[in-house]
Amino acid sequence: MQIVTSLEELRAARRLRPAPLGLVPTMGYLHSGHISLVQRARAESESVAASIFVNPTQFGPTEDLAKYPRNLEGDLNLLEAAGTDLVWLPTPAQMYPTGYQTWVEVDGLASPLEGAMRPGHFRGVTTVVAKLFNAFQPQRAYFGQKDAQQAAVICRMARDLDFPVEIVICPTLREADGLAMSSRNSYLNTDERQAAPVLFRSLNAARAAYYAGERNAEKLRQIMTDTLIAEPLARLQYVSCADYDSLQELQEINGKILLSMAVYIGKTRLIDNFVLEN
Ligand code: PAJ
Repeated sequence: MQIVTSLEELRAARRLRPAPLGLVPTMGYLHSGHISLVQRARAESESVAASIFVNPTQFGPTEDLAKYPRNLEGDLNLLEAAGTDLVWLPTPAQMYPTGYQTWVEVDGLASPLEGAMRPGHFRGVTTVVAKLFNAFQPQRAYFGQKDAQQAAVICRMARDLDFPVEIVICPTLREADGLAMSSRNSYLNTDERQAAPVLFRSLNAARAAYYAGERNAEKLRQIMTDTLIAEPLARLQYVSCADYDSLQELQEINGKILLSMAVYIGKTRLIDNFVLEN
């Protein structure tokens, strides 16, 4: 596994790798969810590349940039074991040198849900992912369904800006009790960790109602809310039952939907979602 830091080194290393190249962008502190993306890339691509970069521009001023968890050595071991060929570890100064002033912004899809709660977040995500696409020039790039809106926004950006890359969305990996794997789960104390599967339980409750025939979106939002507020350590930020393609909130359901939520467990903000379709 080749590890590079400068963009020049990356470009030189990239040229020597056979196509198709599959890219897995990450912010590090890797878990099995990230590694499942690497494995998928490994199974489908001639070359597999990953980036580890805690991207400052996607964090709000009151968010967890400074304390975002890091474990570079562990990350590199996991990437190597999963068969990664090339890893780029850019620095913030390299990504955003003094005088940097260019941004990539998706309009409609980036506005609701996470976009409404975290102003500027998706602008940071799409900007850094566009830069990663330019740097690696991957034929495929792998993202997790765990961050459903991020995946949708990146698909839209790739189409709108004609990036010659196929975006592959991979299923959410979960712990045995249903909690979606996330680097931020490491912030949870023992009690909070026990409470955290309430997100998964609330999604399951809504899914059960959906498959029992419920097609009123407000009812599904209410079912998720009821489950969440029954957990004393949980503080609900939003629940949503939205059209999968537009991410607009629904009243009556017909077609593919995204059930999603953001919930504070103590000080830790967790998100989760299900996609449902007949
Ligand atoms: P990060 O949170 O490190 O996640 C990297 C990738 O792993 C994302 O595509 C995310 O959706 C996926 N992922 C996270 N948890 C997962 C899980 N439990 N199952 C499956 N996939 C999972 O998302 C980012 O970094 C950043 O925003 C990034 C795209 C790298 C841009 O900075």
